[in-house]
Amino acid sequence: MNTQDLEKKFQDRIDAGEKIEPKDWMPEKYRKTHIRQISQHAHSEIVGMLPEGNWISRAPSLRRKVALLAKVQDEGGHGLYLYSAAETLGISRDELFNQLHTGKAKYSSIFNYPALTWADIGAIGWLVDGAAIINQVMLTRTSFGPYARAMVRICKEESFHQRQGYEILLTLCNGTEVQKAMAQDALNRWWWPSLMMFGPRDEESPNTAQSVKWKIKRKTNDELRQQFVDNTIPQAEILGITVPDPDLKWNEERGHYDFGAIDWSEFWNVVKGNGPCNKERLAARNAAWDNGAWVREAALAHSEKQAKREELKQAI
Ligand SMILES: [Fe+2]
Ligand SMILES: [Fe+2]
Repeated sequence: MNTQDLEKKFQDRIDAGEKIEPKDWMPEKYRKTHIRQISQHAHSEIVGMLPEGNWISRAPSLRRKVALLAKVQDEGGHGLYLYSAAETLGISRDELFNQLHTGKAKYSSIFNYPALTWADIGAIGWLVDGAAIINQVMLTRTSFGPYARAMVRICKEESFHQRQGYEILLTLCNGTEVQKAMAQDALNRWWWPSLMMFGPRDEESPNTAQSVKWKIKRKTNDELRQQFVDNTIPQAEILGITVPDPDLKWNEERGHYDFGAIDWSEFWNVVKGNGPCNKERLAARNAAWDNGAWVREAALAHSEKQAKREELKQAI
C-alpha cells in the first residue's frame, strides 16, 4: 500500500471512531504531534507539583495536609501514566526528561506563577484543575488509545482536586474579613492565567484544524475557554468573590457569559521563559533529577544483581 492509501485508511479509521494503537500504522506527523502533546502534558503534571508541594508543610490543619499531599501525589502519578503513553510512540523516558531539563520542551505556563498564600492552594484546585478537567474530559475521547485511556483515570482524580480547592476557598470565604480578602486576592491573580490555559485564540491557533481532523481535539481553544467561564462564574457567585473582569456579563442571546480581552502579551512572555517562576521551576526539576541519580544507579545495580542471580540459578 502506498502512503496515500495508508493515510486514507488511517483517516477512515479515525472517522469511524476507532482508536489508534501504538503498533498501528500512523502518519509521522501524527506520531510527532502526540509525542509533543503527551510529553508536554506529562511535564505539566510534574512541574505542577511544585507550587503546591511548597505548601504541604504549611497546610493549616492535618486534614488539609492529608488532602493536599494526596492531590500532589496524584499529579506525580498522572505524569507517570503520561510518560508511559508517550514512550509507546518510540521515545525514551530519558529523552523526554532531557527535553524538559534543557528547556526544549514546554509545560503549561500556569505553573510559572507562584503560590503566595494558602488561598492560592484553593484557587489552583478550583481554577487550574477546573480548567484541566475541561481539557481532559475532551481528551478521554481522543483518537490515540493509550492517551485516551490514561485520561479516564486522570479525570476521576481531577474532580477530587477541583473540589478540594473549592472547599478551601469556601471555608475562607465564610471566615473572617481577612480570610475572605485572601481568597479574593488569589482569584484576582489566578483568573486571567487560568483563562490562558486553553491556549491562543482560535484564529491564532493554526494546528487546530489538523488536531480536530485527527480527533486529538474535539473542541477549539475558544469553545473550551467559554465552557470554563460558564461553569466557573456561578461558583464564584456562591463564594461571594468577584471575578476581576469589568466586562464580564451574561449574554442572554448567546446563552453564555461575555468576558473581557485576555492580555496575550503576558501569555507569550511567560511561554518564552520570562514568567515569575520559569527559572525556579526548571532549576527545581533539574535538582530533583540530579539528586535522584543515586536512586537510579542503585535500582540499576539491584536489577543487574537479580539478573545475575537468576542466571546462576538456571545454570545449576
Ligand atoms: Fe493532573
Ligand atoms: Fe489535578
